[in-house]
Amino acid sequence: MSHQIKGSTAVVTGGQRGLGKAIVDELLARGAGKVYATSRSPEPSTDPRVVVVQAEVTDAHSVDKLAELAGDATIVVNNAGVTGGKSLLSSDLDEIRSVIETNLFGALHVTRAFAPQLAGGGTLVNIASVLSWLPGFGAYGISKAALWSANNSLRLELQNQDTDVIGVYLGYTDTSMVADLDVPKNDPADVARQIVDGIESGAAEVLADELTRQARVGAFA
Ligand SMILES: NC(=O)c1ccc[n+]([C@@H]2O[C@H](COP(=O)([O-])OP(=O)(O)OC[C@H]3O[C@@H](n4cnc5c(N)ncnc54)[C@H](OP(=O)(O)O)[C@@H]3O)[C@@H](O)[C@H]2O)c1
Repeated sequence: MSHQIKGSTAVVTGGQRGLGKAIVDELLARGAGKVYATSRSPEPSTDPRVVVVQAEVTDAHSVDKLAELAGDATIVVNNAGVTGGKSLLSSDLDEIRSVIETNLFGALHVTRAFAPQLAGGGTLVNIASVLSWLPGFGAYGISKAALWSANNSLRLELQNQDTDVIGVYLGYTDTSMVADLDVPKNDPADVARQIVDGIESGAAEVLADELTRQARVGAFA
């Protein structure tokens, strides 16, 4: 199903910086009428089309308040995420839990809160990673592999209410999350453009770079 961006209303979690901010900018550049951009410590926006909302995705109450406020949104982007818990053997177990709590359960809280209003043509976008399919990043990899699986099951669960579910997969991208890594990185604006293309065309998945397209081959479903 396709979703027209022009005049639409969207929510982007973590939409005030990094990839989330690039997605907000791309949605607005393509004609979205209003975008709710969340942050745990929000800064005012100078753009009248941006509604800044304080939200913590690990807190179901905070997410429910966001869904109430953004009751007119028909596009929801689960972008908020954290890295950490690299070693499954030696990282603090609470840190491992907290990465999974944010990246998997956070996305699930938001999805459950918004699912009713996405019925009848809405779009849910969940940002996973190439590390859904590659080893070596401990808790982060677990959270993104689980999110891949969740994306595939949510697509089945939501298809009978006519809601698109788009899984987004990407390698290193130039944001503060990987600022200390000296490696080639995607431009967040380019990833954002592909995500918004995917929303518009009703894609099941967005594979943002060559490494991700290669890693996807062979992963069933
Ligand atoms: N950068 C990469 O190389 C890369 C690669 C693959 C996938 N990704 C994924 O892309 C997404 C965006 O990450 P990024 O690269 O833009 O990283 P980033 O610059 O570190 O931004 C992370 C965003 O997540 C929000 N966030 C984190 N924890 C949150 C929580 N508990 N509740 C609400 N919001 C929370 C932050 O919002 P505030 O701090 O403003 O509250 C911030 O906007 C993440 O899902 C990440 O896993 C990134």
